[in-house]
Amino acid sequence: SWASACLNCNKMYGWLLYDNDVESFSFFFFNFQVAAASGHTVVLVDQSDEILKKSTKGIEESLKRVTKKKFADKPEAGAEFIEKTLKNLTTSTDAVAVVHSTDLVIEAIVENQEIKNELFKRLDKFAPEHTIFASNTSSLQITQLANSTTRQDRFGGLHFFNPVPMMKLVEVIKTPMTSQKTFESLVDFSKAVGKSPVSCKDTPGFIVNRLLVPYMMEAVRLFERGDASKEDIDVAMKLGAGYPMGPFELLDYVGLDTSKYIIDGWHSLEPNNPLFAPSPLLNKLVEEKKLGKKTGEGFYKYK
Ligand code: 3HC
Repeated sequence: SWASACLNCNKMYGWLLYDNDVESFSFFFFNFQVAAASGHTVVLVDQSDEILKKSTKGIEESLKRVTKKKFADKPEAGAEFIEKTLKNLTTSTDAVAVVHSTDLVIEAIVENQEIKNELFKRLDKFAPEHTIFASNTSSLQITQLANSTTRQDRFGGLHFFNPVPMMKLVEVIKTPMTSQKTFESLVDFSKAVGKSPVSCKDTPGFIVNRLLVPYMMEAVRLFERGDASKEDIDVAMKLGAGYPMGPFELLDYVGLDTSKYIIDGWHSLEPNNPLFAPSPLLNKLVEEKKLGKKTGEGFYKYK
C-alpha cells in the first residue's frame, strides 16, 4: 500500500509507500507534517483509509510533542498551532487526481528502484509540465529515478533526517541533469519548511549517510569481533564524542531494515569497499524481523 501528500497552497505533493510494516512509514509523514506546520496545504493520499487514519494519528501525536516544548507556557497558542496545522492536512486515495494541481512532488516510498520508477513514470504522465519531482531516497541514485521520467531537468533529491520535526538539515541533491532553477526551487522550499539546506552531488549516501552509515557499521563490526559490548560502545560515543545517541541506539532508531537497504545498495555498487561490507549480525536481526524501536526489538529491547 502507499500514501502520498499534496500541498495545494504552495501546490506541493509528496508520497510514501511502505510494505507490511505500519510503523516503518512514521518517518516519512514527518516530512508532510513539517510542510503542513509551515503553512502549506497537505493532502495525504493512500490506497487505504486505514493507513491514512494511522498516518494522521501519528502526525497528531508528533505535533503534540513539538507543541509541548515550543509553547510550554502558552498552551492556547500551542492548541491553535496544532489546529492550524491539521487544517492544512487532508487525505485522499486518488493520487492521479491530486497530482494535477501540484508544483512539487516529494517521493518517500519504499526503497525499491522498480517501484519508485513505476510510480514516477505514472506521475510524470499526469503532473503539470512545470512540476518538480524530488525523492527522499537514502540508498538509490537520484539520476536513475530521474531517468524514469521525461523531466530530468525538473528532478532532484530532498533528503530529510529522522526525527524530521527536530532535525534541521535537508540535503538537496543535484544530478548532472537537474537545472539550476529546479535546484534553487528545492533550496527555497527547504528554507520555507524551516530547514537548513546543504547541497551534494548524486553520490552514495550524499553527505550525512556517507559518513554516518559506515560509522554505524564499524560499530557493529567492533561488537561482532567481541572487542567491546554494544552498551559500552554507545556510552563511549555519547560521553567520548558528544553524540546524542550511540551507534546501536541510532541503528535501532533509524530501523535495521533501512540500514540494511542502504548498506546492501552500496555494497552492490562497490563490492570491494570494506566500509560497505554487509554485517552477518545486522542481516540476522533483520531476518528475525528485529528491526529496531518500531518492532519493539533490534539491538536492544523496547517495551
Ligand atoms: N516528533 C516530534 N517531536 C519529537 C520527536 C518526534 N519524532 N522526537 C523528539 N521530539 C522532540 C519532543 O519535543 C521531545 O520532547 P518529549 O519527549 O517530551 O515529547 C524532545 O524532542 C526531546 O526528545 P527526547 O527527550 O527524546 O530528547 P533528546 O534530547 O534525546 O533528543 C533526538 C532526541 C533529537 C532524537 C536526539 O537524540 C538526536 O539528535 N539523535 C540523533 C538523531 C540522528 O542522528 N538522526 C539522523 C538519523 S540518519 C537519517 O535519518 C537518515 C536516513 O536516511 C536513514
